[in-house]
Amino acid sequence: MHRLAEDFIRLHRHEQPAHGDPAARLAAVHAEIDATGTYRHTPGELAFGARVAWRNSNRCIGRLYWNSLRVRDLRHISDAESVARECADHLREAGNGGRVRPLITIFAPDTPARPGPRIWNEQLIRYAGYTAAGGDIVGDPRNTGLTELAMRLGWRGGPGTAFDVLPLIVQGSDEKPRQYQLPDDAVLEVPLAHPEDTWAQEWGLRWHAVPAISHMCLEIGGICYPCAPFNGWYMGTEIGARNLADADRYNLLEPLARRLGLDTSTDRSLWKDRALVELNRAVLHSFDRAGVTMADHHTESERFLTHLEREEARGREVAADWSWIVPPMSSAATPVFHRTYDNTELTPLFTHHEDALVRARGEGPY
Ligand code: ARG
Repeated sequence: MHRLAEDFIRLHRHEQPAHGDPAARLAAVHAEIDATGTYRHTPGELAFGARVAWRNSNRCIGRLYWNSLRVRDLRHISDAESVARECADHLREAGNGGRVRPLITIFAPDTPARPGPRIWNEQLIRYAGYTAAGGDIVGDPRNTGLTELAMRLGWRGGPGTAFDVLPLIVQGSDEKPRQYQLPDDAVLEVPLAHPEDTWAQEWGLRWHAVPAISHMCLEIGGICYPCAPFNGWYMGTEIGARNLADADRYNLLEPLARRLGLDTSTDRSLWKDRALVELNRAVLHSFDRAGVTMADHHTESERFLTHLEREEARGREVAADWSWIVPPMSSAATPVFHRTYDNTELTPLFTHHEDALVRARGEGPY
């Protein structure tokens, strides 16, 4: 703890020298850790730590704007009901009527006295996956475990569409998890439509506007903030080339290819590729039409290269995980494909704790 705290305080003062010489602050932090086993970040340290955690997210292509992340400091909140209420506010502020703003809300940290709260859902907005008697799944197969857990906790289930928003499952400090319905006005969604065809409306396709990761731990200077939901904006391929396309998600490539009259009897007709393009055109078109912020993979790749240049000009090398940075379609048509990256992990960072991954699958002890 002492060592991690010291490294962080030095990093903060090095990048933001206006806060003055670190010696006095370091002495205070060391004394606080000796007395209590932990220490409290100043609001400035917290905001800096959260922004640098984004900067250090090796899998994220969207880091150009890391320094403009908005930070809601809610460290005084640790009970489930308040967490749920503030998450709804987070979504409203982040959704911003369509002009999506990168935002993080930071709730109480883990301390030796007691754990911070936890959100079990991997994102604030997730679609239910209902398993029917025969094993067929309605909705997002990724969330079947969480859907069953929500029902064990008292959720009655939604209307039964493929896009029913799950309740938040929140565990307050030292409490059992409880489920909370998100208010409708907190959940901004975009109905999908293809620019030249009607299948997306006929199939009732939609997706939510704000991707808010809620099961990762924010680690700053040895302190764990296990409940710190954060969001950027979507890149179209996340929805069009993964969520709606992956065989273990909505698996729409084959039905779409058939609908488009493509020859699905042989891979060599490239029906998957052609269906992917149309699906992704529908996603980008629909978000544009709805006035909701969304990046495309070509633009976001260019921005990432700008980020690399800017950071290098400031004397910082950008680490990255090639397999996550490279978009899931048209990879070599984007400039991020044609180079390698160092993948060293730096702190502060967002990290996956194994128990949080288990909870997000709905496999906890409740
Ligand atoms: N890929 C995830 C999803 O499709 C979201 C991950 C975060 N994405 C982002 N653009 N900040 O829901």
